[in-house]
Amino acid sequence: MKVKITETILRDAHQSLIATRMRTRNMLPIVDKLDEVGYYSLEMWGGATFDSSIRYLNEDPWERLRELKKHMKETPAQMLLRGQNLVGYRHYSDDVVEKFVKKAHENGIDIFRVFDAVNDIRNMEKAITVAKKEGAHVQGAIAYTISPVHTIDKYVEMANGLAELECDSICIKDMAGLISPQQAYDLVKALKAQVNIPVDLHSHCTSGMAPMSYTAACRAGVDILDTALSPFAWGTSQPPTESIIAALAETKRATGLDLELISEISKYFKDIKEEYRCILDPISEQIDTNVLLYQIPGGMLSNLVSQLKEQNAVDKFNDVLAEMPLVRAELGYPPLVTPTSQIVGTQAVLNVLMGERYKVIPKEVRDYVKGLYGRPPQKISEEIIAKIIGEDEPITCRPADLLQPEYERMKKEAEDMGLIKKEEDILTYILYPAIAPAFLKGELEEEDLAAIMQKKNPCAVPDTSGIPTEYNVEVDGEIFKVRVNPSGGSIKFVDAGTKTDADSVPGAVTSHMQGMVLSIKTKIGDNIEEGAVGCVIEAMKMENAIHAPHGGTVKAIMIAEGDAVKSGDVLMSIE
Ligand code: CO
Repeated sequence: MKVKITETILRDAHQSLIATRMRTRNMLPIVDKLDEVGYYSLEMWGGATFDSSIRYLNEDPWERLRELKKHMKETPAQMLLRGQNLVGYRHYSDDVVEKFVKKAHENGIDIFRVFDAVNDIRNMEKAITVAKKEGAHVQGAIAYTISPVHTIDKYVEMANGLAELECDSICIKDMAGLISPQQAYDLVKALKAQVNIPVDLHSHCTSGMAPMSYTAACRAGVDILDTALSPFAWGTSQPPTESIIAALAETKRATGLDLELISEISKYFKDIKEEYRCILDPISEQIDTNVLLYQIPGGMLSNLVSQLKEQNAVDKFNDVLAEMPLVRAELGYPPLVTPTSQIVGTQAVLNVLMGERYKVIPKEVRDYVKGLYGRPPQKISEEIIAKIIGEDEPITCRPADLLQPEYERMKKEAEDMGLIKKEEDILTYILYPAIAPAFLKGELEEEDLAAIMQKKNPCAVPDTSGIPTEYNVEVDGEIFKVRVNPSGGSIKFVDAGTKTDADSVPGAVTSHMQGMVLSIKTKIGDNIEEGAVGCVIEAMKMENAIHAPHGGTVKAIMIAEGDAVKSGDVLMSIE
């Protein structure tokens, strides 16, 4: 039987290689042709495309959906939905999930691929049931990872749970490109035998194995494969559509798709790729053998390096690599995907940098252990729970059960700010309250690719200012600030003026990391107990409480909210 192909060129392919920056104007001229191919579906929305559109492109994501859909007469439109997180990074209340899924379907989405970072079906259930009720096709996705608790039986059990929720198909979502040909064969075989719905394999070429795993999956009876047109394939993206079609052509699983038509479309995207050359990270185009050794996604490794650079501790890289599997095991083996990859990675970095494990624990790690991201794949030990959240008890309910309805309240908030022209704008605001106002008011400007090119290529435009150059690097939909300094230069911080040498301040409380002061929890004259929170520092995208090392009276506070601090800076004095 024919294998069907989901084309990812309009979503995952450019999210993986050019930080989700492809503009709608680059897509529109070719959609009619894409529609002619006879793909199973065209993945063209969701994931990071929503965020990127309003943050960098000055584009309305809803408008993109409607415009593309107009040209898709034959091919179903598919989106990636992060379960209760929708297209954002936190859990939203059920009323928001319901509105979002309805509006997405109304504007053109035919197939909803729904997943959850820790594979907790309770976090997917609301989105699935609403999409089903609306009459959409729902593909329940399994976040694929490798660990002692992620057995084939467990995956089959999850797939059966998804089938019970009336999912129309199952996706093996291998976001890190970990799946080997044998694993792909065994898992697809088991799912086909024990779950009576079509199976899709979605992988990335990060480790170099994906094309081989695809052919193995075909032998095991996989129904659908995700591929990307060759200009935006390989590396951290999908296997190339053309190669997979050609490889299968002489087999019983031949796709029947027209390679000549597809090559014509590919030629178009080859030119488009040149427009984005300046943001194409050469690393993301390479095969990353670290994935084979450590089972850590490539994006996460480069993120770790930048975290360590930020903390001036690149020499600790090997220690962090060794620490990471320990933390992941202690946290119950979460799949490493946004946001769990950041949670595990940052805790591992902190454990190494502090010289003591779990001395500093970011809020996100506490929340995770409390169960606010869902049920970890393996139960976390009592000892680790006590170490991380102390006397607190983890929740046992579905995390979203603790959320109050927020749609009406935020709708009013957005209306009062004068942001709303259409109903969809309310959802845009609820999802991204920090960046949506500027976008909705029309104050945003499209990111200038030519300017990025100049920054990246200082030979073309000599930069003699010596001012550090900042880049926003997107990993898995999360934005990280990376600052590149001219050689010989050093990182400059906004000077708070009064930060002093620890030795000269009696009762000094120092920062043990580099970051930004998020909030100050005390004031001069307060009596503070040992262990109480003095302030909160944001470092490596996580909130870290700084506790008083000793009790006493707060004599001085040397920092202000928003200040940049580095390791060893005096924050306050308590005597
Ligand atoms: Co993907």
